[in-house]
Amino acid sequence: MSLSALQQIPADVANLADFEAHARACMSEQAFAYLNGGAADEQVLRANRAAWDAIKLWPRVLRDLSGGHTRITLLGREWPQPVALAPIAYQRLAHPDGELASAYAAAAQGAGLILSAQASMPMQGVAQAMLSEADRGPLWFQLYWRDDRDFMRELLQRIEAAGFEALVLTVDAPVHGARDRERRAGFKLPDDIRAVNLGGLKKPLDLAPGQSAMFDGLMPRAAKWAEIDWLRQHSRLPLLLKGVAHPEDAREAQRRGVAGLIVSNHGGRTLDALPTTAELLPMLRATMGEDFPLLVDGGIRRGTDVLKAIALGANAVLLGRPYVHALATAGALGVAHALRLLRDELEIAMALCGCKQLSEAGPHLLWQTRL
Ligand code: FNR
Ligand code: LAC
Repeated sequence: MSLSALQQIPADVANLADFEAHARACMSEQAFAYLNGGAADEQVLRANRAAWDAIKLWPRVLRDLSGGHTRITLLGREWPQPVALAPIAYQRLAHPDGELASAYAAAAQGAGLILSAQASMPMQGVAQAMLSEADRGPLWFQLYWRDDRDFMRELLQRIEAAGFEALVLTVDAPVHGARDRERRAGFKLPDDIRAVNLGGLKKPLDLAPGQSAMFDGLMPRAAKWAEIDWLRQHSRLPLLLKGVAHPEDAREAQRRGVAGLIVSNHGGRTLDALPTTAELLPMLRATMGEDFPLLVDGGIRRGTDVLKAIALGANAVLLGRPYVHALATAGALGVAHALRLLRDELEIAMALCGCKQLSEAGPHLLWQTRL
């Protein structure tokens, strides 16, 4: 697999949000509605952003920051910077180079990559693009549970053979949210874009008359806690869960040997009545103790958001829609540029807060609003 010719970054792009208007112009209206939309009234989608905006940093001055850096260590690996690309399905909707472009860009910028189960390009080529770079970030694979154990066994083997280093099971979306914007736009996957790594799945059984599509069709086939044990038994890769909101579920995951959690509300695409991830994060950090790996996503758009997330207890963050806007705008170069902008902003924020390395960031870096 190879990339198309290099594209230009538009001159008016100064930050991640600036890619959005360009992406809108490059993509079909339907695909853009799928990418940008959230569930129902999109309250969670808006609230995620507003929550980061409402948090203020509390700088220290006149410190010696020479030798400062953005490196972190997580799950036994050094990450050049605390950012990974979130799993986003069907990236060929945004650009013909799809997930391959995202992988080259992540590798070049030392960011991590979490490939979606519903990627539109073969996992082996995407993994190769990432693995070929010495100073890369982590390479993880995101799964949705499929109620077909032979298929899952074979999928896990393919994931390990391709070189992925961890599994991320997404647990907050056993069914699609009510996506009003997507339905209004009439979004349908084009015939030539598919989840190419999921071929060979059994078709679900037909429902008997009077049965519920939700509770007799979809939910019996969704993952339960027993499937967490099954996944742990059938793969030697560390398993993380994405989309745990309740401390009791977080503790249960830890008891079952889960290696980390991604604090997420699926970018506001599932239930439109969830706490923001900035609200969930400190509670889950307090529950899990200071050493348990916690990542967070949802509305991260600025270097200051990254620093705020880390100060609230995250080890690292995932970037969602903005990198796909950059992908639509300028392919691999666009994604690399977006990651570079975010990292530059993070370094500026650290320097202006007197923070030499991210292990020093904590609640003391946050201004507590006094009412
Ligand atoms: C997603 N997300 C997602 N999550 C997942 O676990 N598997 C997937 O295949 C997808 N697919 C997907 C498609 C699209 C178009 C979007 C926008 C999102 C959710 C994603 O990983 C992440 O949680 C959010 O996108 C983070 O929020 P922001 O950064 O987009 O606000
Ligand atoms: C979505 C699914 C693929 O959010 O997770 O569209």
